[in-house]
Amino acid sequence: MENKKIVLAYSGGLDTSIILKWLIEKGNEVIAYVADVGQDDDFKKIEEKAYACGASKVYVCDLKEEFISDYVFRALKASATYEGTYLLGTAIARPLIAKKHVEIAKENGATVLCHGATGKGNDQARFEIGYMAMMPEAEIYSPWKDPVFLSEFRGRTDMINYAEKHGIPISVSLRKPFSIDENLLHTSYEAGVLEDPANKFDPSMFKRGIHPKDAPDQTECVKVTFSNGLPVKVENLDTGESHSGSMELFCYLNELGYKHGIGIVDMVENRLMGMKSRGVYVTPGGTILHNAHNALETITLDKEVQHYKQWMASEVGRIIYNGLWFSPEMEFLMAAIDKSQESVNGEVEICLYKGNAMVTSRSSVNSLYNEGIASMDAHGGYDQTDAKGFIKIFGLRVKGRYIDETMGKGHTP
Ligand code: ARG
Repeated sequence: MENKKIVLAYSGGLDTSIILKWLIEKGNEVIAYVADVGQDDDFKKIEEKAYACGASKVYVCDLKEEFISDYVFRALKASATYEGTYLLGTAIARPLIAKKHVEIAKENGATVLCHGATGKGNDQARFEIGYMAMMPEAEIYSPWKDPVFLSEFRGRTDMINYAEKHGIPISVSLRKPFSIDENLLHTSYEAGVLEDPANKFDPSMFKRGIHPKDAPDQTECVKVTFSNGLPVKVENLDTGESHSGSMELFCYLNELGYKHGIGIVDMVENRLMGMKSRGVYVTPGGTILHNAHNALETITLDKEVQHYKQWMASEVGRIIYNGLWFSPEMEFLMAAIDKSQESVNGEVEICLYKGNAMVTSRSSVNSLYNEGIASMDAHGGYDQTDAKGFIKIFGLRVKGRYIDETMGKGHTP
């Protein structure tokens, strides 16, 4: 990679600082792009560091609002999870980071997009497929997949030596025990001692949030109001505090969620590249909204639509996880999901207590719940003797099958 104009996704950490310096040394012009998706960083310092490494320009982009409204809430509408558990905190942020990356490249006439994700993880695919979708003409440079770069940096020692030689400050957290990714939706912890799935995680690793055992002994209840599947208002039923606006209500739910130890998941997942990987995720506000939204769907969606949507939730989860946010299949499924959300209006009450976000009440003007029919005592137009014929026909296929298999063919039940 020589004599090109490159936009590098820059985090301020050792790896991307080395990549930045190294690319400049090779005669490239490098613009550093820092995406602020709500990670706890000193962006002024990162900007200064990028200039100190020789960046020709530095962009620090506040993507928080867009992240919540256009990415987190979109996944929420779909109830997307990966392998039933992971709320996709990292996976959802990557396409947005890629989108802004492309915008900066186009604005500056740069032809190369560079990121510091490793060749083992999912993030490389999420960035690169994003670039391919939005700037197909761009050249993608991924140093951790470049034999030239790899031959110079075979391990941590090579990197430290390079940093020292070039005056790149090495922070004390260099021997980071974990690989952490942080944004408004979640914080993820991987690698280090967590690599052995039998090792218990130590909650003191949490940068934000606490273990449920340290959470308050009192419950705190919130009411979330949804309009077309999107949260529009949150009220604390104990204190009367109320918030609206995507970012504001989301940050408030994060605050409550962190306080009550909500949204901690310790799981082993199957990466896009095929290997299994253990991660611990803390997704406080996202978990509260996920539970609340699902509860509202139980009364506002038709049975069959609800069942199709459950299947779609896992498909959308896989699409997002695998880096295909900007894809025809995502557009196709999201069109159906948006349609389903037209009736998802109403309120859900949720009780927060020691790691649980427990739904206690749901109501909607679009509710399909018919007390008259469901009630055990009321008659409400449902004649239970009708069930006799229904079950007779419904079960016809299985009649006699079990006996044939266990007692031999020809046996008549
Ligand atoms: N395993 C999760 C995912 O693929 C988290 C990845 C975290 N990324 C990181 N660079 N630490 O979405």
